[in-house]
Amino acid sequence: MQIKKASFKQSASSIFGCPKTNMQEYAFIGRSNVGKSSLINMLCNNNKLAKTSATPGKTQLINHFLINEHWFLVDLPGYGFAKTGKDQKVKIETIIFDYCKKRDQLVCLFILIDSRLELQKIDLEFMLWCGENEIPFSIIYTKADKNSKSQLEKNIKQIESEILKHWEDLPNSFISSSEKKTGKEEILDFIDFNIKAQNSLKA
Ligand code: GTP
Ligand code: MG
Repeated sequence: MQIKKASFKQSASSIFGCPKTNMQEYAFIGRSNVGKSSLINMLCNNNKLAKTSATPGKTQLINHFLINEHWFLVDLPGYGFAKTGKDQKVKIETIIFDYCKKRDQLVCLFILIDSRLELQKIDLEFMLWCGENEIPFSIIYTKADKNSKSQLEKNIKQIESEILKHWEDLPNSFISSSEKKTGKEEILDFIDFNIKAQNSLKA
């Protein structure tokens, strides 16, 4: 699939402010600074679409981007930003948890994981929370350009072995680099497959 048109629709501080449409949504979540907004820009071929920053905590709201006039990519705030005050942390967690749990339009949640690091406690905790709440997810390993191929493979193997301590099967996963535009086709094809599957369910 190709993204022919992408535009910012709106920001919301809770699910009540999200677009009142039945269009399908594909959302990106993960630790602050993992590369969620950059990935959206890479997929849409527009570096100015979602706001990115080297400083964690840039995205604070639920941001909807309308794609090809008929579905949304959703940029969520990151979890686990240590410098956020307690009140702000609770506020962001409420936004994230509410969106993931209650947004009926959400078809696929992509959890982004930094491919340079071992599995972080907070990522595992979020995955376990998704499991408890029956929210299916896929993984996108980010910043693949920052590793050698062998280091990347080693890190991912290690993360997968941690995941397998809690699940019988591995979730769907993708390797990406927004810098080098890696993973674009695979992620968009996966979304396309899901869009068609959802449409045929409704037909
Ligand atoms: P928050 O909105 O703060 O939660 O962060 P985010 O997850 O949206 O991250 P963002 O896309 O703003 O990227 C954070 C930093 O990582 C920026 O400096 C990006 O340029 C950098 N970055 C993101 N993706 C990649 C990548 O694939 N490769 C490299 N080398 N840097 C990346
Ligand atoms: Mg962001």
